[in-house]
Amino acid sequence: SAMEKKIFGISIKYLSLLVLVVQNSMLVIVMRYSRIVSDVKYFTSTAVFFAELFKLVASLCLYYLEDPETIKSNGFKYLLHQIFGTDSWKMFIPAFLYTLQNNLQYRAVSLLDPATFQVSYQMKILTTALCSVILLKTILGAVKWTSLFMLTAGIALVQLDSTSSTQTPSAKTGTINKFQGLVAVGFACLLSGLSGVYFELVLKTTSKSVWLRNVQLSLYSLVPATLGILLVDGSDISKNGFFYGYTIWTFGAIMCQSLGGLVVAVVVKYADNILKGFATSISIILSCFLSIFIFDFKVTLPFTIGTVLVIYSTYLYGTVPDKRKAPLPNEETNYNVKIAPSG
Ligand code: C5P
Repeated sequence: SAMEKKIFGISIKYLSLLVLVVQNSMLVIVMRYSRIVSDVKYFTSTAVFFAELFKLVASLCLYYLEDPETIKSNGFKYLLHQIFGTDSWKMFIPAFLYTLQNNLQYRAVSLLDPATFQVSYQMKILTTALCSVILLKTILGAVKWTSLFMLTAGIALVQLDSTSSTQTPSAKTGTINKFQGLVAVGFACLLSGLSGVYFELVLKTTSKSVWLRNVQLSLYSLVPATLGILLVDGSDISKNGFFYGYTIWTFGAIMCQSLGGLVVAVVVKYADNILKGFATSISIILSCFLSIFIFDFKVTLPFTIGTVLVIYSTYLYGTVPDKRKAPLPNEETNYNVKIAPSG
């Protein structure tokens, strides 16, 4: 079955989680570095657009490789029908939400140091839980609620402390940047929970392949990504050009973000969201560690206690299994059921 699929003798499940840990740490470091490496600041809205474009090409290839025979024998019209037909419109919603989230992520990472960003972004576990309760009818027990509040406390502790760790020229701009950065993280967390749960809902209540869903997702994301370019940086781009301020690190950030989207899809398919949570909390340790060396990040006692609380609560949350009130409408256990092209 799909669950036991292996590459080089390692199950895809654990391989995907390992890649997610490394990708998550790399993303924050590379994204942050790409923003501070040069005085000339590139337009992040264009980076979001290119990440989606790259993901679209990769997802199309993966979708084709999943079942080349069916696509070859049914032809281009069949492919178009698969991408745009029936309930394809459902991906419009997460496409819009994820694009906004990805833009906010750039903003937050530009204003906050990587460690603060990484830890406060863990708040998405809380928003994901709330959205699961509301949309997926997940029931959370006492342990899970407790661990969620512990997570919030841990994040608050990290935030309270880290005025000393902002690397901005003056303390005043530092505080303003930090506040704006945290607001961006807050909204990104809300969007992450909402779009993640919505994607899961669609994936679990329909039978389309995860790569087909990702083709739709990234294709539709190009629309809000273009809107973002026009609305946010439009006038500056017409003055300076699309690739103004781009460095090799910008391409690194774009690649990391694309890879992230693809890995999240694999993790959702072969593992689950709980394991995804574990992986991201492990990557906090990794990026904190790297930040100490790369960005001269100062680790203080409240920061350490807060980080321990975040990681412990994530662990606690993950050890208790999910309870669900009722099965989802039309729930199918195998997400990869291939449906014959209809009429
Ligand atoms: O922080 P979070 O885990 O919510 O980030 C998910 C990231 O993965 C977003 O950048 C989103 O664009 C991407 N994604 C994707 N395809 C999916 C699910 C998420 O590209 N099916």
